[in-house]
Amino acid sequence: MRRPLLDIEGLSARNAAGQPVLRGVSLMMGPGEVHGLVGQSGAGKTSIAKAILGILPRAVTLTGGSIRFDGLELAGADTSTLDKLLGTDIALIPQDPLTALNPSRRIGAQLTDALRLKAGFSKHAAMTKAKSLLEEVHLSDTARILRAYPHELSGGMRQRVLIASAFALNPRLIIADEPTSALDVTVQKQILRLIRRLQRDHETAVLFVTHDLGVVAQICDDVTVLFSGAVVEQTSVHRLFRQPLHAYTRALIAANPRYDQPGASLRPISAEVIETTLKGISA
Ligand SMILES: Nc1ncnc2c1ncn2[C@@H]1O[C@H](COP(=O)(O)OP(=O)(O)O)[C@@H](O)[C@H]1O
Ligand SMILES: [Mg+2]
Repeated sequence: MRRPLLDIEGLSARNAAGQPVLRGVSLMMGPGEVHGLVGQSGAGKTSIAKAILGILPRAVTLTGGSIRFDGLELAGADTSTLDKLLGTDIALIPQDPLTALNPSRRIGAQLTDALRLKAGFSKHAAMTKAKSLLEEVHLSDTARILRAYPHELSGGMRQRVLIASAFALNPRLIIADEPTSALDVTVQKQILRLIRRLQRDHETAVLFVTHDLGVVAQICDDVTVLFSGAVVEQTSVHRLFRQPLHAYTRALIAANPRYDQPGASLRPISAEVIETTLKGISA
C-alpha cells in the first residue's frame, strides 16, 4: 500500500455502562481505496465512523488507540482541527437523507453554505457550483431542486443532494454510513453506481459502512468484518467471498445468500457461531 491516507490503530471505546464498544480496531486505507466496514447492528460500525469525524455521542468514550489521517492524529484532536478537515478533506454521506437535511431551508441554501463557509465561494459562484454538482449526480431541473425544500424531493433525490454535497470540495476521504439502507432496492442500486462512479472520477477514498454484503461485493476493494467491536477478518473483497477465514464471516456470507444482489434480506446467524465468535474476541 502507498502511504496510508487513514490509519486506525488499536482503537478502543466504551459506552456509559463501561461495556466495550470498540476493542482494539485497526484499519488502514490508501488514497482512492474503497474499504467496506461490515457487521451486524451494534457491531460498532457507526462508532468508528463517528470517531473519525470526532462526533461520537457523549455516551461513547474513546479509551485508546489512534486515528491518523494523512499523518495527522484525529483521536482527541481539538474541534478547530476537525472543523478545518470536515467537509473539505473528509466528508460524510449520512444514512438517512431526510434527517440529514434541514427541513426548513431550501436545498440551494444548504448546498451553498459549505461552499461559501469552507471554500470562500461568493454567493453567485457557490450557486453556479451547486448547479454543476447537481448535474454531476444526475439531477436534472436543477433550478427547481435548488429552490425546493427537502420534503419536496424523493428519498433518492435527497440522497443524491447529500452525495453532491459530500463530493463538493473534492475531499480525499468520504465516510458513507449505510448510505443506501433507507432507500428502496432499485434506488439503492442507482445510488451505489453513482457513488462508485464519482469515487473513481475523483479518486476519492471511501470508507463504506454497511450491514449488506451485496453492497460490499459491488463497491469495495477491501473489507473489515466487525463483530461486537472487534475485527474478526480483514481481507480483499475478492478473498472475502472465495476464502473467508473466520467462521463468523462464513456465517455472514451464508446469511446473505444473494450477495450479488444488494438489498437482499439477511437470514439470522446461528447462536452457536455467535457464541464461538464472542468467546474468541473476549479471550
Ligand atoms: N448514542 C449512543 N448512546 C449510547 N451508546 C451508544 C450510542 N451509539 C452507540 N452506542 C454504543 O455503541 C455500540 C455500537 O453501536 P454502533 O456503533 O451504532 O453500531 P453499528 O453502527 O454497527 O450498528 C452500541 O451497542 C452502544 O453500546
Ligand atoms: Mg450504524
